[in-house]
Amino acid sequence: MYSLLPLIPFYFIKGASKEDNNAVNIKKLENNKGMYFSFIVTGDNHSGLIFNDSSALKEVWHMNREDRFRKVPIDLVLSVGDVTLNGGRGHFETFKKLQKIIKWPFITAIGNHDDRDLFGEYCGEKEFTFVNRNSFFIVLDNEAGKLTDDQFAWFEDKLKEGKNYQHIFVAMHKPPFDPYQQEWYNMDNAPWAYRFRKMCGAYGVDMVFTGHKHMFKHEVFDGVEHIVTGGGGMLIDIPGSGGGYLHYVRVLVNNEYVTYEVRKISPPLWECFLYYSWKEAVYMVRNFYGTGYIFGRNSAILPIREKRVNDKEFWMGKTA
Ligand SMILES: [Fe+2]
Repeated sequence: MYSLLPLIPFYFIKGASKEDNNAVNIKKLENNKGMYFSFIVTGDNHSGLIFNDSSALKEVWHMNREDRFRKVPIDLVLSVGDVTLNGGRGHFETFKKLQKIIKWPFITAIGNHDDRDLFGEYCGEKEFTFVNRNSFFIVLDNEAGKLTDDQFAWFEDKLKEGKNYQHIFVAMHKPPFDPYQQEWYNMDNAPWAYRFRKMCGAYGVDMVFTGHKHMFKHEVFDGVEHIVTGGGGMLIDIPGSGGGYLHYVRVLVNNEYVTYEVRKISPPLWECFLYYSWKEAVYMVRNFYGTGYIFGRNSAILPIREKRVNDKEFWMGKTA
């Protein structure tokens, strides 16, 4: 019960104002000087469900202590989206409470759970760039699942602009690859994803941050580091051994160097008892006769997909 207590004041505080949005927080970075700084990346806090809020709250408590050694300034918290669970106004209001207690300027991409209009109202722009010290940040809107030709043209323009800075960081919601292969998300072979990865490589992007999958994953494509950081609070169904754990990422920029650390956060105790220990136990049992994803074989959708995989006519384009 003790681990539930922080939620009581949380639900009663007044949230950040709607004006505390992306544009306003970008302005706060203007006077940052020097080439040695840090920023935090998080994603998929999914405010609005008590499980998620309790975990996100614990993560924010850790985030807010990141500067306790006074070694390096922390400039901002960058979110890769899904700030709400159902995208409704109530959940945006809860998210604003979370934003209120984060010590640093909060800038976010849009996720597929966030209503587009309400995101505009509560968070501001969906596609934009900003500068912090020697680094150029590009935030893209791919919550619908891909990037259009127009978006690629805009992105390439911005990448050219980014070449004037020492580093380019890109943030968007959905990863351009499959961070956990034994699961539904199927993006690795999508044309937009390939094009995106190649373009990032061609322009020397340092890091691409995404979320959507509630897990941590690190991959490198064409010399570009891709970090999936979707462990910002949402209940996690992927096994811990595959990256399914609550966490956020802290990035350190020191002149031309960029390094990062993953901050794994243990769930609040009541969630360990009610959910997380059971999740891992189910995976342990499952691993006696199979591996992978908890919702694998039992799902109704898989037989359909398997039929298609084996259906040569479908793949030859003879059936719809
Ligand atoms: Fe999500």
